[in-house]
Amino acid sequence: MIKILFICHGNICRSPMAEFIFKDMVAKKGMAENFEISSKATSSEEIYHGVGNPVYPLAREELAKHGISCAGKWAEQMKSDDYDKYDYIIGMDSMNVRNMERITGKKAGGKMRMLLEFAGENRDVRDPWYTGQFDETYRDISVGCTAFLEYLEKTEK
Ligand code: 4NP
Repeated sequence: MIKILFICHGNICRSPMAEFIFKDMVAKKGMAENFEISSKATSSEEIYHGVGNPVYPLAREELAKHGISCAGKWAEQMKSDDYDKYDYIIGMDSMNVRNMERITGKKAGGKMRMLLEFAGENRDVRDPWYTGQFDETYRDISVGCTAFLEYLEKTEK
């Protein structure tokens, strides 16, 4: 069982998109039972009195365009003990990775990485909160998740 945690700032756009795109990819390969896949936020901005917001409507619509549901997902904040609970903790941008280091007290590299590194691109997933372009974010995440799954298929035999 490979345990994967995708991380972004709010856990309402990019990391839930990564969670459900990656779940869809492994399901289509018949590999779902080999993975535990989740997503969380570095911030508590989308959580009120312990209750997380659902996936942002435009992110939900973008997933739906590709036949992917994210029903039942509510924002959660990551905690330091997630470092030991997961095999891979994957941030969407470099600020996420800095916050992951702050929360866990561990250095990035090894199990804590940025998604597009797996595609050989040292850049952030474009943030739709600021761009409004959920389709380009979907493409970035698909490219990153495809490369990440290829990496896992090679290294996690
Ligand atoms: P996410 O999007 O990190 O992709 O879930 C954002 C959600 C909220 C904020 C920024 C990005 N915010 O500043 O509240």
